[in-house]
Amino acid sequence: MRWWWGLLSGFLFLFLFGGGRAEVNCVTCHPTELKVYTHPSYLHKRCGDCHLRVEGLVDRGKVPIGEVKWWREVELLRGEYYLPLPGRMSRRPLVVKSEELEFEDLLSPDLASSLKGPKEVPKFKRVYPCDVVQGVSMSVALCLEASWPLEAEVDCDGGVRGFAEGYATVQKVWLDGLRPGEYRCRVRAHFLNDGETQREVEFHPREIDAVNFPPAGAEGEISAEIREVDGVRYLYLYSPGRVRVRVGYLPGNLRRKARKEIRDEAHRELRPLKEVATYACYRCHDRHSLGASHPVDVVYSPLNGKVRGKPEGLPIFGGKVTCASCHEPHTAVRPYLLRKQGKELCLSCHLPRYF
Ligand code: HEC
Ligand code: HEC
Ligand code: HEC
Ligand code: HEC
Ligand code: HEC
Repeated sequence: MRWWWGLLSGFLFLFLFGGGRAEVNCVTCHPTELKVYTHPSYLHKRCGDCHLRVEGLVDRGKVPIGEVKWWREVELLRGEYYLPLPGRMSRRPLVVKSEELEFEDLLSPDLASSLKGPKEVPKFKRVYPCDVVQGVSMSVALCLEASWPLEAEVDCDGGVRGFAEGYATVQKVWLDGLRPGEYRCRVRAHFLNDGETQREVEFHPREIDAVNFPPAGAEGEISAEIREVDGVRYLYLYSPGRVRVRVGYLPGNLRRKARKEIRDEAHRELRPLKEVATYACYRCHDRHSLGASHPVDVVYSPLNGKVRGKPEGLPIFGGKVTCASCHEPHTAVRPYLLRKQGKELCLSCHLPRYF
């Protein structure tokens, strides 16, 4: 009765953290393949049910910061941010760093997660002037808050215009060269992957109180990922508060090394297959109540005169007969996930004269 609990917490997760947060996991690189019979753990992509990890701390691989070519600096106010990656950037290992938060991450182009959505029609939550700078003329910032990341153009009286790069759920658009007096502006927003909307806003540049977005605290987890939306790749960033982030990439000669590093990171501490092939199964299956009671964990040795020199088409793990010697652990064309059936199974290992 475990599967319904997994399903339930899955829905709960979507409900609580909806809006498309995705996770990189085993199936990003090892997509599942389904035959007629599939093990429930594999079907529900719970690879960790069998591919156990050695307990203990995992220290992350260090980014070779000295080698990074810096590309951009972006400021996040709060929430989600999507920076479009031009073709060449989308195929490079990216480095994201924030000095304030001592955050550093290396993102592999092999690990782009995809995003669909939004589930509901996106809309503006608030549009308001939120910052002002006095110079010879004045500069005013409009803040746009929405239920889904947006990019915006602003057109005001007197030919004043502004534009913000990237898609964000809280966006700041600067308008320069303003004079005292009332301004009326039209905000045109393009939502990430989904339609447009408009809004009008009026303000006096002299009557604006600057809004201070609280900084992302030390406890504030920021995250970075490469995401693909409708075939376009973006650098996705999330922060609970204001933070400056530098984005860079690793030059060509380091690319291979970085990919390997990320793969090793995903595999780090995974128990070897010879353990997965038997011990992992005992977590859920009773070793004494099997359909075919056969010794497992026994050494495969033709010296005993019962088995052939080598098993035919069946794997042996660590020199031993394991559950996975007879069963496909993932998915199979035969019932009980068997690799072979009936007498053929037995005779793949045993000598006919033994029977
Ligand atoms: C970044 C991509 C990537 C991710 C993520 C990843 N793998 Fe792999 N994995 C590979 C590649 C590529 C190979 C084959 C080359 C190699 O052995 O390094 C591989 C090989 C393996 C093997 C065979 C190793 C062997 O000894 O023959 C196992 C088992 C495996 N992965 C399990 C997992 C599991 C479980 C996860 C999730 C915890 C995972 N992988 C996540 C890329 C990945
Ligand atoms: C029921 C236990 C079980 C589950 C669940 C499971 N595996 Fe495995 N996996 C094994 C065993 C046992 C082996 C070694 C036997 C073999 O190679 O056929 C293995 C082998 C592998 C290998 C290396 C051989 C190959 O087929 O390429 C990869 C990669 C792998 N698993 C990935 C995954 C991923 C990804 C998932 C989750 C979607 C997963 N496994 C879920 C038990 C499991
Ligand atoms: C997380 C728990 C769990 C682990 C670990 C696990 N299994 Fe299972 N397995 C299940 C459940 C649940 C079922 C479905 C039981 C049922 O349908 O009666 C199942 C079913 C099976 C079946 C029967 C499929 C059928 O068609 O009736 C086989 C064979 C099997 N598992 C083999 C393995 C092997 C081999 C391993 C180790 C590589 C393993 N399992 C690890 C939970 C697990
Ligand atoms: C020598 C081959 C062999 C080995 C080794 C083996 N099995 Fe099986 N298993 C079978 C066969 C054959 C069946 C089909 C049921 C039958 O014919 O009675 C089966 C059936 C099953 C079933 C489904 C029937 C049931 O009782 O629920 C499960 C689950 C299972 N095996 C799990 C395991 C696990 C776990 C291991 C390792 C501890 C293992 N098997 C080792 C051959 C094997
Ligand atoms: C993956 C190879 C393999 C397969 C498949 C296999 N066996 Fe075995 N079997 C062994 C090994 C190895 C032993 C242990 C022999 C020894 O060293 O005593 C063994 C032992 C046995 C024993 C116990 C013998 C004894 O004297 O203790 C029986 C009975 C047996 N097998 C029957 C079967 C039957 C029936 C099948 C088909 C359902 C089967 N085996 C499939 C490898 C296999």
